[in-house]
Amino acid sequence: MARTLIAGCGDVGCALGTRLAAHGHEVWGLRRDVSALPPAIRPLAADLTQPATLRDLPSRLEWVIYAAAAPARTDAAYRATYPDGLAHVISALHATGQDISKLIFTSSTGVYGQDDGSWVDEASPTDPTSFTGSRMVDAENVLRNAPWPSTSVRFGGIYGPGRTRLLRRAQAGEPIARQPPRWTNRVHRDDCAGILEHLLTLDRLAAHYVAVDDEPSKLGDVVDFLCDRAGWPRAPAPPHEDTHSGARGKRCRNRLLRASGYSFRFPTFRQGYAELIDELEEAPPSLRDTQRG
Ligand SMILES: NC(=O)c1ccc[n+]([C@@H]2O[C@H](COP(=O)([O-])OP(=O)(O)OC[C@H]3O[C@@H](n4cnc5c(N)ncnc54)[C@H](OP(=O)(O)O)[C@@H]3O)[C@@H](O)[C@H]2O)c1
Repeated sequence: MARTLIAGCGDVGCALGTRLAAHGHEVWGLRRDVSALPPAIRPLAADLTQPATLRDLPSRLEWVIYAAAAPARTDAAYRATYPDGLAHVISALHATGQDISKLIFTSSTGVYGQDDGSWVDEASPTDPTSFTGSRMVDAENVLRNAPWPSTSVRFGGIYGPGRTRLLRRAQAGEPIARQPPRWTNRVHRDDCAGILEHLLTLDRLAAHYVAVDDEPSKLGDVVDFLCDRAGWPRAPAPPHEDTHSGARGKRCRNRLLRASGYSFRFPTFRQGYAELIDELEEAPPSLRDTQRG
């Protein structure tokens, strides 16, 4: 059974840690505020941006998953949380002579700058056009220099319980631009945890995995599905659609992840959102307002 550290143990980290603990692994969850960690995860209060707080990491760790998310959408926060925070953890582990068998960084499909609707996979160039993608690429480069087997897992947009922003937009009838079609890529939170657990069990890791479900989808099609499934009127188009906009998004291919043997619990947004809509309808009004995803 593996002694496991989840550095940045939030939504995905807690889902992963709970699964690992249920399978007999010993799991520590590191974050600044440990009060909401589930009981199966051992709390470790520390700040990844403050190396001095990382001196007392557990010994004899085998698996380390770096899953922190920047607290603000600024270049400084992204730099501090992704490349710098990851480097701090690697230094702290290295300084105590730890022999990590797998180190995973939760990256993002934002590393791809492609915006013409083309297909991308692990072999595609990463040339992001935003600081968010650039800082993820920086962190992937930090990971590459770690002295242990490692991989970066490039998640698409994560949705799931408590991450229902798109559902709320659809329910509110917010206008949705359908022209030109814009491709989006998703992965359910439970599949994020499942994918990470699956990769931890592989003998050999590829350098990167694109971690999205089977169906890149046009945003308008997703919102139409949500409205139809929930029985809401379809969201209107905005009064002035910018049909000449060049932004078409990209289509992410999960073939390598599939070939590694992973089976999705929610192979497309249809299965995942159907369950969320059912839960939303059953929830008492006080629980219905959630803000993410
Ligand atoms: N959201 C998406 O659609 C998406 C897409 C692609 C990739 N990702 C990546 O997927 C990963 C998991 O995301 P998530 O949804 O699970 O994020 P989340 O729920 O926001 O959790 C992130 C965790 O990081 C911790 N954290 C942030 N700054 C920290 C610091 N300085 N020191 C210690 N802990 C820190 C937070 O806890 P405290 O605040 O208590 O410290 C929180 O528990 C992240 O790396 C994210 O960038 C997300």
